[in-house]
Amino acid sequence: KRRIGVMTSGGDSPGMNGAVRAVVRMAIHKGCEAYCIYEGYDGLVKGGDMIKAVGWEDVRGFLSEGGTLIGTARCMEFMQRNGRLKAAKNMITKGMDALVICGGDGSLTGADKFRAEWPGLLQELVDTKQLTQEQITPFKHLNIVGLVGSIDNDLSMTDATIGCYSSLARICEAVDSVDTTATSHQRAFVIEVMGRHCGWLALMAGVSTGADFIFIPESPPSENWQDEMCSVIKKHRAMGKRKTIVIVAEGAHDQDLNPIKPSQVKDLLIKKAGLDTRVTTLGHVQRGGTPAAYDRMLATLQGVEAIKAVLDATPETPSPVICMIENKIVRRPLLEAVAQTKEVAKAIENKDFARAMELRDAE
Ligand code: F6P
Repeated sequence: KRRIGVMTSGGDSPGMNGAVRAVVRMAIHKGCEAYCIYEGYDGLVKGGDMIKAVGWEDVRGFLSEGGTLIGTARCMEFMQRNGRLKAAKNMITKGMDALVICGGDGSLTGADKFRAEWPGLLQELVDTKQLTQEQITPFKHLNIVGLVGSIDNDLSMTDATIGCYSSLARICEAVDSVDTTATSHQRAFVIEVMGRHCGWLALMAGVSTGADFIFIPESPPSENWQDEMCSVIKKHRAMGKRKTIVIVAEGAHDQDLNPIKPSQVKDLLIKKAGLDTRVTTLGHVQRGGTPAAYDRMLATLQGVEAIKAVLDATPETPSPVICMIENKIVRRPLLEAVAQTKEVAKAIENKDFARAMELRDAE
């Protein structure tokens, strides 16, 4: 029986538990044994009780739970070869040669590196007498399959990452709440949302709540954005609007890559637009709570596909990442998706914002 491990890694996101549930149950359905690896790569490196065989019932109730019930961690040890050597030993000891990882691009890149090093790691374990040749022989190849769990929706080649729609819903609820108090007092609110290098949450929240102005990293505002923002807002006020909402992505910056901070926007709104202004930072509220229906569905369909991908894999197949493109669950080469994601970051770094937007549009 094949033994397939599943783990969550990097920042948690709503829907990760649904992915774990689907992977475990599909693995069992296909006649394999499922293992949960607790606390991300930390568990893989530590082994022992951190890697446990799980049955159908062990994931009951996972679908509607937020966060990740099997834990996640940022593991420095796995970044070092020695950590990966320990991880390989633990996998062989448990009889596992396939891993499904739900995490962000960093976690998935680490996994692919592990796969590339796998034969060398096993040989080293034999050479240093930690394992015997007989022990490693059945496990020549390591299969890695990625599922993208991130509220930021920041991976290229997929329309949605697991968690992004839950987070967007949470942001919209929060902005709606702010709206009522803002309208009562005719105030302006500057709302900071997450998204590191990706403006998807800010952009979609702006569209979904009818914000007056947004700031996103991929498309910084014009050089005289201060005047532009104030004139747009004054125009809206002149049309009878009693509230003002400005959404700032946490990674927002101007054309020279100087950060645009909510406090700075607030000061401008007070001084230049004469508005009574407050700042609301939504923080980790955006990442917590129960998953939206879309994320439960996405996680389930992608978890099922991940097991199919493990079972279809040949030594030549590059590690896939499971994506959603135009409402279809598809596999894409993991490294290509990561490389395209990095290209966006590079375009921003090089101040080539047209290219950054072009790459995001192409997704
Ligand atoms: O999950 C991604 C993300 O939400 C980013 O948008 C944010 O910058 C980051 O996580 C914060 O994560 P942490 O507080 O876990 O370092």
